[in-house]
Amino acid sequence: MRLPGDKSMAHRALLFAALAKSPSRVARLPDGDDVACTIACLRALGTRIDVDGDTATVTPAPWSDPAAPLSCGNSGTLARLLIGALAGEAIDAELVGDASLSARPMRRVADPLRALFGVDVVELAAGSTLPARVHGSIAFAATEIRASSPGAAPSSDAPVRVETGVASAQVKQACVLAARAFGGDVDVVEPVPTRDHGERMLTAFGAPIATSAAPGGGRVVHVGAPFEWPGFDVDLPADPSSVALVAAYAIIAERRARFVDVLANPFRTAFVDVLRAAGVDIALASSSAKTHAGEPIADLALAAPSPLVRGIDVAAQRVPALIDDIPALAAVAVASPFESVFRGVGELRFKESDRVARLVDLARAFGADADVVDDTLRIRGRAARELRAVDRAVDRAVVRVRTDGDHRIAMAATALARAIGVAIELDVPGCERTSFPAFATFLARLDDEAAPH
Ligand code: S3P
Repeated sequence: MRLPGDKSMAHRALLFAALAKSPSRVARLPDGDDVACTIACLRALGTRIDVDGDTATVTPAPWSDPAAPLSCGNSGTLARLLIGALAGEAIDAELVGDASLSARPMRRVADPLRALFGVDVVELAAGSTLPARVHGSIAFAATEIRASSPGAAPSSDAPVRVETGVASAQVKQACVLAARAFGGDVDVVEPVPTRDHGERMLTAFGAPIATSAAPGGGRVVHVGAPFEWPGFDVDLPADPSSVALVAAYAIIAERRARFVDVLANPFRTAFVDVLRAAGVDIALASSSAKTHAGEPIADLALAAPSPLVRGIDVAAQRVPALIDDIPALAAVAVASPFESVFRGVGELRFKESDRVARLVDLARAFGADADVVDDTLRIRGRAARELRAVDRAVDRAVVRVRTDGDHRIAMAATALARAIGVAIELDVPGCERTSFPAFATFLARLDDEAAPH
């Protein structure tokens, strides 16, 4: 099966297309609400976007200050990337989000932008959240002041340097986009390497980006000058984080599955390594597809029904490459008779919900045992058939799961419930629409393929 295009790449492709020198085509866009919000925000800024099925033709036009607040919906990626892009384009705008996004930390992007420009370019509600007012005009004025006062410049040919301070690809990408205010020639330093779609895509599209190791294990993204690129044509590969959720279902329900043209960026496929280490017969294989936008692509196969043979064990340093896929792994852990350990998962508290708390609830709701001590989540699961028996024994007609509207928690719980054959009730129905509206259809396809014909 071919799942919808990657959401992280989709946000970036649309933004990069809006800022390109000529029109672009972006195909196989995922149809979730997050990406729809990106399209709506870019249109509100003046970009022309014509959508035909899952393909967008993007015609850049100079941005102007939007008349109304830009709505980022549930998407932290959109909010943070857009803050950086607005600062880089001298645009003043207000950004708002839904209840979940309005509770998420935005200082992590406002602080490095303040360091980059030397002034506050982002004003946050209660000091740390959306609504945010971005003063791109102040950012631009700051770059002019810096350029015209030689005393203030560290040295005439040294690039401006900014540290993101946090392991966040969103913050890194925001800083890279904000470098447009300087025309480029900025070094963005991250403390540990995070997903590098922006670096790969911009390089493939012809922008002057280079990366190198930073002391202490971090990484520097060198943004060259002039920081511009022509229009491009991209087919987005399938989203590995959507694949992880469908694969979790296949593992628990003991189905075979084959996913084609999956984005195989190593910052996104660590869940495959983790599952293999726990004994699952799952593997990436070369695909007929090539690379797209500098990204590797592969097929992913679960050749035979293949449960875990030992617990899942996640080391803290792997978490940045698993950041969106721990709910899927946790669902598999709940339905296996081992203890699984996820270390260093603190950042999960700042996602679409407090995912650490929600995963503990989820495991317990299904009759497994879970706890969290410091940043280590432990799940002591039971085999799928036993979980089903536990639910029947306590006469639990329906398993109720609190998601706080988090799409990945909802999909992990839905996959688990369907695989073990129990009914489920979510506090917020329908939130898979955020990233993967057709999720249930793909689970049903796996069942159809497994049914005797
Ligand atoms: C994303 C980066 C990650 C990830 C999010 C998408 C991106 O967030 O959780 O779903 O597209 O850059 P952080 O960078 O904040 O960890």
